[in-house]
Amino acid sequence: MKLLVAYASTDGQTRKICRVAADWLVDAGHMAELLPLADADDIDLTRFDAVLLAASVHGGRYQKALTEFCANRAAALSALPSLFLSVSLAAAGHEAEDWQGLEKILADFTSATGWTPDRVEQLAGAYKPSEYDVFRRFVMRRILAIKDPSADLSADIEYTDWAALKAVLADWPASFATDDGD
Ligand SMILES: Cc1cc2nc3c(=O)[nH]c(=O)nc-3n(C[C@H](O)[C@H](O)[C@H](O)COP(=O)(O)O)c2cc1C
Repeated sequence: MKLLVAYASTDGQTRKICRVAADWLVDAGHMAELLPLADADDIDLTRFDAVLLAASVHGGRYQKALTEFCANRAAALSALPSLFLSVSLAAAGHEAEDWQGLEKILADFTSATGWTPDRVEQLAGAYKPSEYDVFRRFVMRRILAIKDPSADLSADIEYTDWAALKAVLADWPASFATDDGD
């Protein structure tokens, strides 16, 4: 199958997740086109059998590149099987309030764009002080000190559960494959 894997990423973790996802999909025998959503303006979505979109949560919302793309292409996206990977630090924990927050962010996104993905997976991202400016480092240190008190706040920390992502991708294409040779 021909799959589009497109992402918005501020600090690089969602980009890394999508590069790994595209590699795994290719290893499984599919064709995957990987690109940032900012470069996807004029892409012909009818060339694809399905789309995997991904973005990360910053300040309680996804990147503008995602919302603009989905709002502009809602009809074409709705015609394809889809998987959306929502990447955040809230998904690294088990706080009910954080998870309700993620549901709200997703609901705001679908109502703002008019596109509802067939399947959504909440994935933990990363804490990356090496990528932050002074202000963001200050804010994120305070947040992480509460969320993960044992963390070394000076080092990058990856919370992404790669095994969980692999399991999602192992069964996603099969969920919409037809019997006509796809
Ligand atoms: C300035 C800033 C704001 C963030 N806001 C949130 C947030 O509101 N909720 C959340 O769960 N994670 C938040 N995060 C964590 C990011 O979602 C996480 O670091 C993710 O891995 C970023 O993905 P990216 O590297 O692809 O941009 C924030 C991170 C930064 C740096």
